[in-house]
Amino acid sequence: MGETLEMILNYSVNLDGLKKMITSPDEQRLVWPDSKFPFFDTEWLEKLAFNDGHRSYYCLMDGEPVGHLALRRTDDAHIRRIVFVVVAPHCRQKGIGRFMINEIEKICRREKLAEKLTLRVRSHNRIAKSLYEKCGYRVYAIEGTAMDMEKLLISF
Ligand SMILES: CC(C)(COP(=O)(O)OP(=O)(O)OC[C@H]1O[C@@H](n2cnc3c(N)ncnc32)[C@H](O)[C@@H]1OP(=O)(O)O)[C@@H](O)C(=O)NCCC(=O)NCCS
Repeated sequence: MGETLEMILNYSVNLDGLKKMITSPDEQRLVWPDSKFPFFDTEWLEKLAFNDGHRSYYCLMDGEPVGHLALRRTDDAHIRRIVFVVVAPHCRQKGIGRFMINEIEKICRREKLAEKLTLRVRSHNRIAKSLYEKCGYRVYAIEGTAMDMEKLLISF
């Protein structure tokens, strides 16, 4: 790719870019299965609130938002959860999803945000599951269609 990719902290939790990337109720259900449709800003803002220790990031390609993911705080200070992963439909299959996961791991190591990352993917979402497997995430729990995956960022 000739384009420049970068991850930026969405400190003010601007939802405009994220909303544009979610183009149908089915897609929204992949990103957050229990969310209200149409997109209800308040519930997303609650889940992403910077002051509660959560962090939202945009992936910019040549300065334009083309991907989003967030880190949620967990009860364990060493573990954060990756949520709300989405790449704009017209930018998929170009390595942006993989770039975002790699970058967030670097950010977690550099800023000592987490020693382990977890995430949840639906078993029918084979594309996302394949992405996470290729990035080194392993299933540690299954509950119905929900598969919980994890990756250690530091070795003890
Ligand atoms: C899942 C998603 C984020 C992947 O983003 P992406 O930028 O297209 O992914 P990448 O180009 O980095 O591809 C990484 C890997 O994902 C898998 N993948 C991506 N697109 C795929 C496709 N159409 N078919 C099969 N596998 C695919 C492949 O394993 C790929 O590795 P490869 O390039 O070596 O084949 C994107 O499809 C998306 O936004 N989906 C809708 C929302 C969603 O499901 N979010 C995840 C919630 S848990």
